[in-house]
Amino acid sequence: MRVELTVNGEPQEAEVWEGESLLYALRERLGLPGSKNACEQGECGSCSVLMDGELVCSCLVLAAQADGHEIVTVEGLGDGDHPVQEAFVEAGAVQCGFCTPGLVVATAALLERNPEPSDDEIREALSGNLCRCTGYQKIFDAVRLAAERA
Ligand code: FES
Ligand code: FES
Repeated sequence: MRVELTVNGEPQEAEVWEGESLLYALRERLGLPGSKNACEQGECGSCSVLMDGELVCSCLVLAAQADGHEIVTVEGLGDGDHPVQEAFVEAGAVQCGFCTPGLVVATAALLERNPEPSDDEIREALSGNLCRCTGYQKIFDAVRLAAERA
């Protein structure tokens, strides 16, 4: 089946099969490998994207469900120059980097709706994004740094 969607502001079309995830379509059909595939079960958040402004796990959304919708991936936020991307680098919140695109998208979504989040609000907003490297402290530092600059 054919789907038509907007990705990072650009109209896109892709031929997908009925059970195919949005994550697969983004990575394998639309050439956007920024969203990572770690669990494919909605557990880790590494595939986080915005769908019509809402944070979703793209591994849990069918490509067919995205037909007619607007998607923003980590590539759509910036080319390393988004304030959240810069804050993650400066705070040392990136180790293997596998979780980073999802965390950057989730953080950008958080700061968009709540520019001055409390620690508890940061914790809750990022609770769906797992990182096995950093111990999360540097990630918190990055979110606070991005919030300060926003
Ligand atoms: S790959 Fe989608 S939540 Fe882990
Ligand atoms: S930096 Fe490796 S999983 Fe987060």
